[in-house]
Amino acid sequence: MAHKKLKVGIIGVGGVAQAVHLAPWQELQSEGKVEFLGACDLIEERAQLAVNKFGAKKAYVDYNKMLEDDEYDIIDICTQNRGHCPIAVDALNSGANVIVEKPIAMNVAEAQKMIQTAKANKRKLMTAQNQRFESAYEQLKSEIDAGKLGQIYTASTRYLRRRGIPGWGKFHIAAESRGGPLIDIGVHFIDLCMWFLNFPKPLSTVGKVYRMFGDREDLCNGSWGFGYPLKEFDVEDYALAFVRLEGGISMIVETCWAANIRDEVNQITVLGDKAGISTNPAGLYGYSENALTHTGYDWLPEQKSHRMEIRHFAECVEKDLPVRVRPEESLRVQQIIDAIYQSSQENKEIVIKPI
Ligand SMILES: NC(=O)c1ccc[n+]([C@@H]2O[C@H](COP(=O)([O-])OP(=O)(O)OC[C@H]3O[C@@H](n4cnc5c(N)ncnc54)[C@H](O)[C@@H]3O)[C@@H](O)[C@H]2O)c1
Repeated sequence: MAHKKLKVGIIGVGGVAQAVHLAPWQELQSEGKVEFLGACDLIEERAQLAVNKFGAKKAYVDYNKMLEDDEYDIIDICTQNRGHCPIAVDALNSGANVIVEKPIAMNVAEAQKMIQTAKANKRKLMTAQNQRFESAYEQLKSEIDAGKLGQIYTASTRYLRRRGIPGWGKFHIAAESRGGPLIDIGVHFIDLCMWFLNFPKPLSTVGKVYRMFGDREDLCNGSWGFGYPLKEFDVEDYALAFVRLEGGISMIVETCWAANIRDEVNQITVLGDKAGISTNPAGLYGYSENALTHTGYDWLPEQKSHRMEIRHFAECVEKDLPVRVRPEESLRVQQIIDAIYQSSQENKEIVIKPI
C-alpha cells in the first residue's frame, strides 16, 4: 500500500518560522514523508517566501481559507502568542494535529481550551519546547530518570541577558504577547526544569516582575538594537519567583531581557542528595567516599533542536505515538507563569489551584 504523506501547513511565517521551522518541513517533504501544502501569513510576501524558498505549494493571507481549501494532518502555528489559542482551536476543529510555538497560550484559560479541543477532536497538540530536544539536556534527563540524583529537593532556573530586548515582532506589547521575558524565554527554562523534576504539581508562588529598561530612551540595547516605538513597551523586562511544588520541592525562577550584570547567565541546576546537575556546561556532580565526582557531557554532538522537535511531531502523528511535550505539562508551566504575574500584581503569595 502506498505510504500516505502527511499534509502540512504553517501559519505565521515570521522570525522563528523562517529561522527554524520552514527548513525541517522542506526536508521532510524532500524525504517523501510530508506534503508541505500551505503557508499563511498576514503579510503576503512572507507566505510567498515559504513557497519560493522552502517548497510550500500554496500561499495564503487568511488561515481560515487555507483550512477550508484542504484537509491538513498537521498545522504548525508560529504567530505571536495572541494567535496561538484561536488558531489552534480552529485548526484542531478542522481535523488537524497542532504543533504551536511556545508559550502554549496567553494564559491558563486559553491553554485549557486548546487541550479540551484537542481531546474532543482526538488530535495531538504539542508546544514547541525545542530545548527538550537538545542532546545534552536529553542526556541529563536520562541521568535523572535513572535515579542518579537520589532525592531531589530543589532547582533553580536562571536565564539573564545583559542586553537582549527583542527589537522585532510584538514581544514588547502585552496585548500581543501577555508579558516579557518570563513568558518569552522564562517559559523555555521553566518547562525544561519542570521536565527534569518530572512535572510535580505547582502549589504556590511568590513572584515579582519589573519594567526597568524597555521603555527608556537612554538605554543601550547592545547588538539587539531597538526596533519598536519605546512608548509601546508595556511588558516586564525582569522577573523573579520562588515556586513551591508538590513533594516538598522548590524552584527559583529568574529571567530578564536586560540587567546591569557582567555576563549572561543561562543555567538550570537541579539538586538531589546523591548528585546534582547543571545545564551550562551540562554536567552531573556527585561524590564517592573519598572524592567529589564530575561527569561532563561536552562531547555530545549538538543537534538542531527545532529540527528534531518537528521530526518528532511528524513521527508521532504518522505512527500515533505520544508527544514528548504533553499539553498537560505545558498547562502546568502556564499555571506557574500566570501565578507569578498575579503574585507580582497583588504583592502576595498565590496559591495555585489544582487543575
Ligand atoms: N522556540 C524558539 O526558540 C522561539 C524563538 C522565537 C520566537 N518563538 C515564538 O514564536 C512565535 C512567533 O515569534 P516570531 O519571532 O516569529 O514573531 P514574528 O512577529 O517575527 O512572526 C509572527 C508572524 O505571524 C504572522 N501572523 C500573526 N497573526 C497571524 C494570523 N492570524 N494569520 C497569519 N499570520 C499571522 C505575522 O504577520 C508575523 O509574520 C512567538 O510565540 C514566540 O514566542 C519561539
